[in-house]
Amino acid sequence: EPEIITDKDQMRKWSRSMRAQGKTIGLVPTMGYLHHGHISLIKEAQKHTHLIVVSVYVNPGQFSPSEDLSTYPSDFQGDFDKLITLSGGVDVAFHPHNLYDYGNNDTINGSSSSSSSSSCCCSERSREEKEEGGEKVGVISCVEERKIGHETWVRVEGLEKGMCGKSRPVFFRGIATVVIKLFNIVEPDVAVFGKKDYQQWRIIRRMVRDLDFSTNVIGSEIVRDADGLAMSSRNVYLSPEEREKAISINRSLTRAKCSAQNGQVCCRDLRNSVTQAIHEAGGKIDYAEIVDQESLEAVEEIKCPVVFCVAAWFGKVRLIDNMEINL
Ligand code: PAJ
Repeated sequence: EPEIITDKDQMRKWSRSMRAQGKTIGLVPTMGYLHHGHISLIKEAQKHTHLIVVSVYVNPGQFSPSEDLSTYPSDFQGDFDKLITLSGGVDVAFHPHNLYDYGNNDTINGSSSSSSSSSCCCSERSREEKEEGGEKVGVISCVEERKIGHETWVRVEGLEKGMCGKSRPVFFRGIATVVIKLFNIVEPDVAVFGKKDYQQWRIIRRMVRDLDFSTNVIGSEIVRDADGLAMSSRNVYLSPEEREKAISINRSLTRAKCSAQNGQVCCRDLRNSVTQAIHEAGGKIDYAEIVDQESLEAVEEIKCPVVFCVAAWFGKVRLIDNMEINL
C-alpha cells in the first residue's frame, strides 16, 4: 500500500533517505481523478526506477478564474484505491493540501509571521472571479492577499505562446512552476508525462534542459478509449451525445495522418479537413495546428516530424488531442 504524504518537507525527507539507500525515484505528476492514461504513465515510470511517487494535486496556479478549478473532478479515495491495486506498486501518493503555503518561516526579511495557517486559501479564492492587473490569474491574487509572497514563476517563453497558451495565458506558467516545485520537493531521477498534453510535455522537457535539472523527462503515448477518444479526467462531463460527437477529433486526425502518408503534405488542406469534420460533428474548434515536434512552430508543408494538435469544445467541455506524423 502506498504511503500517503501530504507535507512537502516530509516528502523531501523520504526522497533523500531513499536516495541515500541507493534507490532511484520516478515521479508521475497528476491532478488526480486517475484513469488508464495516468496508470500507463505509472507503468512507464516503473520500468525506469526502483521507487514510484505519484503526486495528486489540483494546481490552482494553472487555472484562470474563469476556468473550471472549482468543478475539476476529484476523488482522492478513489485514486488511492486505484493505486493500491496497481501491480508493480506505487510507494508514495504525494497529496499536498496547498503547495503555495509557505508557513511563517519563509517571508523575506521576516516581516510577516501571520500566514502560518495550513488551511488552503487558493482553491477557495480563485473560485471568485478575480482579475489582477488586467491578466486573469488564479493563484496569485490569493497568494498576494495572504502575504505569503509567492511571486516567482517559470516561463518557457517561446513554447508557451502558441496553441493552448493563446486561449489560456497563465496556463503554462502555472504548470511549469508547479512542476519545478514538485521536482525540487521530490527530486526525482525520472518523471513521466503524457504526450496527450503535447505542448506541456515539450515545455517541461525544455525547462528541464534550460535550467539544468538532472531529472530525465519521459514522454508516454496517448491512451484512448476503444472508440478512439483520448482519455481525460474531463471526459466525465460529456453527455452521451457530446461524447459521441467528440470521437470526430480522433477520427479526423487519423484520416489526416493517413492522407499525409499518402502524399497530401499541404497543411492548409489537412487542417481544413479536420476543422470541417469536427465542425460538422457539432464541435467548436479552438485551434487545429500542424507544428514541428520540437519547436512547436507551425509548418506549411510536412517535411519534418510534425504533430497535428487540436483543441475543441463540445458543449462546456474543452478537449485536446494530437497525432504525431513522421513521414
Ligand atoms: P493531468 O491532466 O491529471 O495529467 C497528468 C498526466 O497524465 C499528464 O502528464 C498527462 O499528459 C497525462 N495524461 C492524461 N491523459 C492521458 C492519456 N489519455 N494518455 C496518456 N497520458 C495522459 O497534466 C496535468 O495533470 C497537470 O498539468 C500537471 C502536469 C500534473 C501539473 O499540474
